[in-house]
Amino acid sequence: MDKRVVVAIDGPAAAGKSTISKLVAKKLGFTYIDTGAMYRAFTSYVLDKGVDPKNEEACCKLIPEVSIELFPDGRVICSGKDVTRVIREPLVSGNVSYIASYKDIRLALVELQRKLANKVSVVMDGRDIGTYVLPNADVKIFMVASVEERAKRRYKENMEKGIACTFEDIVADVENRDRIDSSRAFAPLRPAEDSIRLDTSKLNIEEVTAKVLEIIKEKVGE
Ligand code: DC
Repeated sequence: MDKRVVVAIDGPAAAGKSTISKLVAKKLGFTYIDTGAMYRAFTSYVLDKGVDPKNEEACCKLIPEVSIELFPDGRVICSGKDVTRVIREPLVSGNVSYIASYKDIRLALVELQRKLANKVSVVMDGRDIGTYVLPNADVKIFMVASVEERAKRRYKENMEKGIACTFEDIVADVENRDRIDSSRAFAPLRPAEDSIRLDTSKLNIEEVTAKVLEIIKEKVGE
């Protein structure tokens, strides 16, 4: 593809967005941007500082101290510390939706997200990419799957990474985050009007990747 292409992939927790976005970006030679990792990195910083994640004012005061870098190999560095692993731990997952509901933190991270998507072709995944961060994206996909299927996948992923949890914990986490993410006042989780809904419940990774590539091809050509 000659022109710069912007692909936005949104959807609820553990719908397969990051796995698919990574594969699609690799296949097309685009940059993958995991915006969830940014909210998770901010959350790990808040927890490290001993600040209560439910205290909006105290959390927002940390904005000037927090710098977040995403590397192509998947490493996430937050204010000089490698947080790649810790941001996937249940403690961060259980608190990230509070942090992501604070407008000032969102505005700071959205600025960074837009900067990263400014010059190159990207696949960016999150909750508000098609509706708020990149409303002019060439392709918008809203990826969904049943809670049961999403929890199963996340549980398997955690087991493979050696992250201790129970299946019941994952179901509760996914449901809780979906509830908070869709009901927050600023840039909530919801499909963009011009997004394409993709239900991945009965599809495997290869099938979803193929579908997404097909949608991109249909929208922007070869
Ligand atoms: O995609 P993820 O599960 O890593 O995202 C973690 C949390 O961050 C998610 O529960 C909501 C929040 N998030 C958000 O509010 N907006 C985004 N663009 C990405 C993530």
